[in-house]
Amino acid sequence: MILQSAWRSPSNIALVKYWGKHGIQLPRNPSLSFTLQESHTTMKMVVDIHATSPSLVVMYDGQPRPQFEPKIKSFFTRIHSYFPWLSKAAVTIDSVNTFPYGAGIASSASAMSAMALCLTEIDGLIHDNQNPVLPLRASFVSTIARMGSGSAARSVFPLAALWGATPSVENSSDEYAIPWNDQIDSIYKSFHDTILIISSTEKSVSSTAGHELMNDLVYADVRYSEAHKNVACLTEIMRTSDHIDAFIALCESEALQLHALMMSGPQPYILIEPNTIAVIRKLWQFRNETSIPVCFTLDAGPNVHVLYPHDYHVDVMTFIKSELQQLCSNGLFIEDCTGAGPQKIEST
Ligand code: DP6
Repeated sequence: MILQSAWRSPSNIALVKYWGKHGIQLPRNPSLSFTLQESHTTMKMVVDIHATSPSLVVMYDGQPRPQFEPKIKSFFTRIHSYFPWLSKAAVTIDSVNTFPYGAGIASSASAMSAMALCLTEIDGLIHDNQNPVLPLRASFVSTIARMGSGSAARSVFPLAALWGATPSVENSSDEYAIPWNDQIDSIYKSFHDTILIISSTEKSVSSTAGHELMNDLVYADVRYSEAHKNVACLTEIMRTSDHIDAFIALCESEALQLHALMMSGPQPYILIEPNTIAVIRKLWQFRNETSIPVCFTLDAGPNVHVLYPHDYHVDVMTFIKSELQQLCSNGLFIEDCTGAGPQKIEST
């Protein structure tokens, strides 16, 4: 029996960072993110559940990509108890990202959430489960996505998501993310994220290795309690539009803390580039001169995510094009904003 499913799923950008994990991709601290609109993966999965022998074919935009297979095979092993049929199935996956391959944008959140959505839908077809995958099975999808890549747990929800158990948030869980769109003011729903590509070369230390290094860091426990505190503050700050200065300070502190952690372990490393710092300095100067509420965050790499409310889109883009674009690799930036979350693609 041949079954198929196709989904488009977005990337996300953390405001409070997940950095440090244990067990099967369980976070050491809570995180909170914006779901993006333009940076996403479209994935189609075709499964023969009665194949003569199990197999996996991974393609990117129609071209074979065998180098992705080991990571996906180990993900399938991890989720075997949820989808026992996987061990006998012939699976073909074809995906494509909107963001340029090698632009330095992590694709694991969008790809792994898309994969979790496809698997959950196919599992529903096998078991005649009539419940729509979203929103009814969102916690389950988020759990599966988490096992592929921690940050993918948050990509399942529109606008904003919170992942990781923390005393200040009822129903928060380490197992899956929860939606956080109803709890934020409309100003945050309107946020843009212009992603400045400072370097598109592959990271020298992967996020997975970075999480690992947290286990040997003397500051680790302090960092985890800071993250709990920051999630408690940020969830309050984002309820209204009154404290955007506090939002800015917290976001930038989180971004710089992430990189400070990388720089302060027993095997220190640096992922930011001189132009990352140059962008930050210019952005600070622009904010001081104009009082426009624009700030930055960073993921585990040199690229700068410039965050600002929609009302300032024209001013900030004029500034980016005149002052920051020249600091980007090949002048590349991606205009993104908060987004509506995953979308099912009807088969043709
Ligand atoms: C800095 O989710 O990529 O982007 O769970 O090992 O796949 P794995 O790591 P990953 O780590 C993301 C780290 C981060 C912060 C964040 O997204 O919260």
